[in-house]
Amino acid sequence: MKKHFTQITLLSGLLVLATTSGRAADSTQGAIDFRESVMTTFKWYVQPMGAMTKGKIPFDAAWFKSRADGLASATRLDVSEGFPQGSVGESEAKPEIWDNWDDFLSKYQRLQDEAIKLQQVAATGDEAAMKEQFGKTAQACGGCHKKFRNKK
Ligand code: HEC
Repeated sequence: MKKHFTQITLLSGLLVLATTSGRAADSTQGAIDFRESVMTTFKWYVQPMGAMTKGKIPFDAAWFKSRADGLASATRLDVSEGFPQGSVGESEAKPEIWDNWDDFLSKYQRLQDEAIKLQQVAATGDEAAMKEQFGKTAQACGGCHKKFRNKK
């Protein structure tokens, strides 16, 4: 009985060790995965609106609105969690992010504000206004990428 107990204690001790060291090793890559997934989610919603704005596909107010709703929801995620101090790793993030953290956060705030406006404008079905506000939203993406993302 005593031997059994010791084995279990030892085993759970090892499990705790494995979990914590695993977490430490994963944290940077986990954060990178998170932020890149959020960015990929943005792209999913933005692409069709971009194509409609440029006239590459026919304008469809209901489809546009559903994309604007999705984007507004996605920008509610706190992407800053995906950018722990110095987490460049094998990513396109520039180290300047952490030297200009407040600017980085304000650029994200700008995207959140523009995406909410886009959702409101899209609810009206006014094509010209939707395209105009889409332009401002896309500029909020580009404004941050220009300063803080290395393009491959
Ligand atoms: C506050 C800054 C910021 C804003 C705003 C922003 N991005 Fe990004 N984005 C980044 C950074 C930094 C990277 C590089 C991240 C990396 O490589 O880990 C990136 C990467 C990406 C990627 C590549 C993801 C990958 O898997 O490598 C896509 C796609 C993307 N962004 C789309 C968008 C779209 C669309 C918007 C607007 C709706 C947007 N981003 C707004 C900072 C931003």
